[in-house]
Amino acid sequence: MKNKLTAFITLLFFVFAMIGFQNPIASNSIDNNIEQTTEKASEEAFDKMMQVLTHKRCVNCHPSGDRPRQGEDSHYHNFDVQRGTDNHGVVALRCETCHQHENNDFSGVPGAPEWSLAPLSMAWEGLNRVEIAKSMLNPANNGGRDLEHIVEHLTEHELVMWAWNPGIDADGNPREKPPVPKDEYIKAVKEWAEAGAHIPEE
Ligand code: HEC
Ligand code: HEC
Repeated sequence: MKNKLTAFITLLFFVFAMIGFQNPIASNSIDNNIEQTTEKASEEAFDKMMQVLTHKRCVNCHPSGDRPRQGEDSHYHNFDVQRGTDNHGVVALRCETCHQHENNDFSGVPGAPEWSLAPLSMAWEGLNRVEIAKSMLNPANNGGRDLEHIVEHLTEHELVMWAWNPGIDADGNPREKPPVPKDEYIKAVKEWAEAGAHIPEE
């Protein structure tokens, strides 16, 4: 008798559960809630990521003109350093003459492999965060990269990683790091990409 009652209650439970799940209003609102939560998480991730991309450690090397910028005030690079035809400077003043593969904290010259200016199509100076994100995802501007390659560049490339190990400037002061810790930034980039790389309107 007790067994039958338990079986009946269990059956009732399943029937109600199925009605509950099939009820379009109930399940729609569950979907909407999930969608809203994902969208919010993706916007927070975007926000974190862009706090880094708009930082001078990145933008000093992604200028809109033909001269790199330096320092916390993003002044024009000393010695009239120019982009040159291959973004590595003019013949007489190549980036790699001074910039080595590592920071030189005695002379204050920052360094990392492939030190050179981002091509003009990847200029971020003067753009707001939405414009930077759109340019970064546009294969016409970003060197023909798809999302996967952009994520890889953003989370692994040595010039990007340098921003969290920026060394000491020529006056002996440590350069400022981006406002988001490296691990948190990498996590945010991946979360944003996995949620569909949505760029909010501003
Ligand atoms: C020393 C100069 C330098 C610094 C500093 C630098 N970049 Fe770049 N960046 C480059 C160069 C050069 C390229 C082009 C590389 C290529 O196409 O192979 C590039 C390309 C990129 C790209 C490829 C797509 C595109 O449209 O720009 C991304 C994304 C990027 N950089 C992000 C960053 C971020 C984020 C930072 C700061 C945390 C940063 N970079 C700091 C020089 C720099
Ligand atoms: C004659 C030596 C020399 C050459 C050539 C040179 N640099 Fe520099 N660069 C320096 C020194 C020194 C600093 C550090 C200045 C300081 O922070 O006080 C510096 C700093 C920078 C910074 C500043 C980083 C930051 O966020 O503050 C960038 C970006 C940069 N150089 C890019 C380049 C690029 C790109 C080239 C080639 C087109 C280049 N430099 C060529 C000596 C040089």
